Amino acid sequence: MKNNFLWGGALAAHQVEGAYDKDGKGLSIADVMTAGTKDKPRKITDGIKANYFYPNHQAINFYDHYKEDIDRFSELGLKSLRVSIAWTRIFPTGEESEPNQRGINYYHDLFKYMRKNNIEPMVTLSHFEMPYSLVKKYGGWRNRKMIGFFFKFSKTCLDEFGDEVKYWLTFNEINNQSLTENPLFAFTNSGIIFNEDEDREKVVYQAAMYEFVAGAKVVQYAHSLQKKLKVGCVVAASPYYPNTPNPNDILKAQRMNELQYFYSDVQARGYIPELIKKIWERRHYQLDITEDDLTELKKGIVDYIGITYYLTSTVSADNNIAKVGSGNAAGNDTVENPYLKRSEWGWTIDPAGLRYYLNEMYHRYHLPIFIVENGIGAVDKITDDGKIHDDYRIAYLRDHILEMEKAIEEDGVDVIGYDVWSPVDLVSFTTGEMKKRYGLIYVDYDNAGKGTGKRINKDSFYWYKQVIESNGEKL
Ligand code: BG6
Repeated sequence: MKNNFLWGGALAAHQVEGAYDKDGKGLSIADVMTAGTKDKPRKITDGIKANYFYPNHQAINFYDHYKEDIDRFSELGLKSLRVSIAWTRIFPTGEESEPNQRGINYYHDLFKYMRKNNIEPMVTLSHFEMPYSLVKKYGGWRNRKMIGFFFKFSKTCLDEFGDEVKYWLTFNEINNQSLTENPLFAFTNSGIIFNEDEDREKVVYQAAMYEFVAGAKVVQYAHSLQKKLKVGCVVAASPYYPNTPNPNDILKAQRMNELQYFYSDVQARGYIPELIKKIWERRHYQLDITEDDLTELKKGIVDYIGITYYLTSTVSADNNIAKVGSGNAAGNDTVENPYLKRSEWGWTIDPAGLRYYLNEMYHRYHLPIFIVENGIGAVDKITDDGKIHDDYRIAYLRDHILEMEKAIEEDGVDVIGYDVWSPVDLVSFTTGEMKKRYGLIYVDYDNAGKGTGKRINKDSFYWYKQVIESNGEKL
């Protein structure tokens, strides 16, 4: 592995910070999402309602304890840490003309503290966050006005933090919203609440187009500001495999993959793929896309691709084969893959799929790739010795890192960094649980937010520490 390889970890503001109404922060879309479970979806409420528990309000209270957590990340040896900026700490409703100085100060302090600990910050501008006020007033990314609001927020962040942060990401997992059967994704990606009977796919395509334009403007602005700034996109890697060699299965898998690649194609190539244009034409979609938008896309190609990788899915063209779904992560129209085990939350475990996907992405775009999330959500137990022996997490991470190393060394893929999701336990995005733990560091909070908040290093912490120290040799 190259000496400058960025071994890191990733977090998102709403899943760790808590302090949801502190220091002038406005209400974010994550603040109106209740707790769910594997089988019970999270609810999106109309504002904050009594008698509901909102896990992101407290999360793991990173906002007040970030120094303690970063001290541990430093002991772990992280070279890089991906965080996100809560838009509502900077612009509480999204419409203010001046930013909230207390929010700005918080992130300056955070980035300075990371740098003091030799941790390279990476920032996602929109990790499932936007001011709730913009959802209520404008319907979120249904509205072209969002381009301006997002650009103002991003420009403020780049102006303020451009000297402290080199690596930027625009929208987290922008392709999730294509899974329209789960309304959570359109809400968290784009602040969209579907109306009954509307064509959900059309709504999502339009929102994505506005997001692409906004992202392209951010890329251009960053480059005009400082040459060293690198802006990437983030796609959830969810490769689809054909169930059999039947050409119909192969075509179906290819189609499913292409529908996902749309999101990276536009951001990495600067134009809308022909297949997607054909779909719009056949469905008579008249989307609001101007000539200026298309020019922006061309000028705003990203510098690198961020991928989050958890699972793969298998699809069949044969309707008689039972659909089993891919947990709550990659759609319902998928069938069992007998070669893969699943996590306790039903997500397939497929290390070789990471190598497959890295090859797909790299040979398609020839842009550097940063694996900005990879990890396993599992139930952890504290044993009598007061420790957490999470050998299942070590096995998962080891197997994936091995496949990444093969992609780099044997296949020539340019991977510049790898982030564990996550260095510390946090609130699960899809379920709102604490019980679905991802961290290398345990946090003593339960699903109801009860506990001391105490941190304990798990076995995986010491394992990843030696992986970093040996630059990926000791696995
Ligand atoms: C990704 C997100 O989808 O997967 C993270 O970027 C999320 O925010 C992670 O936490 C794991 O998903 P979950 O639902 O298990 O927390």
